[in-house]
Amino acid sequence: MLEAVGLRKVFKKNVAVDDINLYLEEGESVGLLGPNGAGKSTAISMISTLMDPTSGDVKWNGENVLKKPNKIRNVLGVVPQDIALYPELSAYENLKFFGKLYGLKGKELELKITSVLDIVGLEERKNEQVSKYSGGMKRRINIAVALIHDPQIIIMDEPTVGIDPQSRNHILEMVRRLNTEKGMTVLYTSHYMEEVERLCDRIYIMDHGKVIATGTKQELISILSSEETVLLTLDQSKQSFTERMKNLDGVLQVIENDTSLKLIVPKGSRLLGSIFNIAESEEVQIVSANIQVPTLEDVFLHLTGRKLRD
Ligand SMILES: Nc1ncnc2c1ncn2[C@@H]1O[C@H](COP(=O)(O)OP(=O)(O)O)[C@@H](O)[C@H]1O
Ligand SMILES: [Mg+2]
Repeated sequence: MLEAVGLRKVFKKNVAVDDINLYLEEGESVGLLGPNGAGKSTAISMISTLMDPTSGDVKWNGENVLKKPNKIRNVLGVVPQDIALYPELSAYENLKFFGKLYGLKGKELELKITSVLDIVGLEERKNEQVSKYSGGMKRRINIAVALIHDPQIIIMDEPTVGIDPQSRNHILEMVRRLNTEKGMTVLYTSHYMEEVERLCDRIYIMDHGKVIATGTKQELISILSSEETVLLTLDQSKQSFTERMKNLDGVLQVIENDTSLKLIVPKGSRLLGSIFNIAESEEVQIVSANIQVPTLEDVFLHLTGRKLRD
């Protein structure tokens, strides 16, 4: 129902979004996953018609809306990456202000305010000044603002960055319920793989302005069906051992994180024997060795040669 076709944005010489195609079907929860600078915010600013693309189209039910942004203004609820609230007003007053912008008034507005405060779990603190709220609470009010006009689609730009784990969990659970219980269509942007894995039916992976892979989590992971991951936990980190792992026949990639080593190997490689032999000769103890199915992080690594959070 909402579709981006060949969307592109160039800032001076920097291609922020490079010809991406993306669609949302009614009721879907779609993730846009990519590291910082991938072009996620630029992409969704264009999709929500807040920014003009250099080229490409945004379509709502097949109709181009870039020249008629009012067509989708009431359909979309956008939660920007940066908090957009009046800090000197209370949460209630902010909601009232933004609700009026959407033409809501009187009893209907009051009911809407109560309903969205209930969704974000801040009903009891609605009269406090926003400037006194924690980062997580501000974020939740920002989400409430995006919901005030009862949109069909909610577009969220990294709503959990920089907030405490409890608020983060609250937001994730709320997004899940909006999608599964209220049937709201969701476009969720993040650089956290586990959030997108938890919330989204379908995922677009973005890097350097391009969509580099798309599909369900299972489809994306099946890109790596020919590979598996061996996760080693060692009693120490030792460079000579890591080097020998990198040079071991059959090892495609080694990711080192302190005393754990992740080896990407072809599926069914029987390398554990050799790995243990090398450990012995290097006088390194292998505390544990696990063979894991790949994660989206591994898919990203495979496609780009980098980790998602580098
Ligand atoms: N208003 C802007 N002017 C110039 N460059 C920008 C602007 N907004 C974003 N960029 C650049 O576009 C690229 C993509 O940025 P952004 O869309 O914010 O990525 P993400 O949201 O994935 O972190 C970056 O290289 C960023 O520096
Ligand atoms: Mg961003």
